[in-house]
Amino acid sequence: MITTNLTSMSTCVPETNSKTTAGSTCQVPSLGLPGQMLNAVQERARVVLHEPMAKSTFRLRLECAQLARPIVPGQFFMVRIPGESDPLLGRPFALFDVWTNTAGEVAGLEFGYVVIGKMTGRLSHLVAGDEVEIWGPLGNGFSASPGGRLIFVAGGIGQTPFLALANEALGQSSYPATSPRAVVTPSQVTLCYGARSAEFLAGVDDFNRVPGLQVELATDDGSTGHHGYVTQLLDRHLKTPGEPVTVYACGPEPMLKAVQKLALAANVTCWLSLETPMACGFGACFSCVAKIREDDGTPEGSWDYRRTCVEGPIFEARQLIF
Ligand SMILES: Cc1cc2nc3c(=O)[nH]c(=O)nc-3n(C[C@H](O)[C@H](O)[C@H](O)COP(=O)(O)OP(=O)(O)OC[C@H]3O[C@@H](n4cnc5c(N)ncnc54)[C@H](O)[C@@H]3O)c2cc1C
Ligand code: FES
Repeated sequence: MITTNLTSMSTCVPETNSKTTAGSTCQVPSLGLPGQMLNAVQERARVVLHEPMAKSTFRLRLECAQLARPIVPGQFFMVRIPGESDPLLGRPFALFDVWTNTAGEVAGLEFGYVVIGKMTGRLSHLVAGDEVEIWGPLGNGFSASPGGRLIFVAGGIGQTPFLALANEALGQSSYPATSPRAVVTPSQVTLCYGARSAEFLAGVDDFNRVPGLQVELATDDGSTGHHGYVTQLLDRHLKTPGEPVTVYACGPEPMLKAVQKLALAANVTCWLSLETPMACGFGACFSCVAKIREDDGTPEGSWDYRRTCVEGPIFEARQLIF
């Protein structure tokens, strides 16, 4: 099992029932496979804030400076409850944003989650002062703004990667905190965010606070914003002439498929972030593969599996085969 692999490959990874204190860290082991995140660490992180964001949706703020410093928008981390074997495997969650302490230093990160099963049910009972085990940063992350018009398309809890990406594109924050990456100032940044109904829209106030970010909402039942699919908002933007567009999308697979179709028809660059279920999160188990079109001169139509956790979770729309 993955937990056993983790503990046996590294002498400093806490055992399931260990009493490691919050703030202790160690390096996630390298298996020598391509694409592995060599700067990933495992940390015991203390919960400092846990509050509702929307119906069945919560925000968890963790104290975990070492993991938060190198992370970039679109990357994720795995979370486990220390000392628990049910659920045995960690679960992946995307960065919502990093937070800084009163001295202005990066002190940890926040993520948002919706309660759907075992782990998220357990998370919902955590209170300030409790601890979780996390390891990361994992995955490739979104590339920084190339300029032009940026359109973020989010469905359900898929809005989580876009707060940090918007803050970065609009000059409010830099990632990674340790050595900020180059950003080309965009002419326009729009978040198109859709959910089943208004009560499931999470973090809208956070997005509205980002100076310069246009927030457009859609709900399936018409309870707020556009009555219909979020992809209809995207379609409207793609049909509006202007500077080159780059689309970034995260959400359920049917939404990603629709975004892919629109972006390919409009011939714009489009990045899709997958929410594939994962077991290890660091490239060892191959439980998370996606079909990716080869881009290396091999015959047309040829593809291979890529691990979403290390070679993703973000892939170019023209490469992804659903
Ligand atoms: C890179 C990445 C980033 C993610 N970021 C976030 C985030 O920021 N916030 C968030 O709430 N969730 C996020 N997820 C999804 C999150 O990992 C799952 O919601 C979580 O694993 C559910 O765990 P659970 O134990 O509560 O549910 P489980 O008990 O494992 O599963 C409950 C039910 O949900 C189904 N299920 C589990 N995971 C998924 C999935 N990914 N897609 C579709 N169905 C699934 C199962 O098949 C089962 O039917 C992310 C996933 C990935 C891969
Ligand atoms: S989750 Fe194990 S290889 Fe991706």
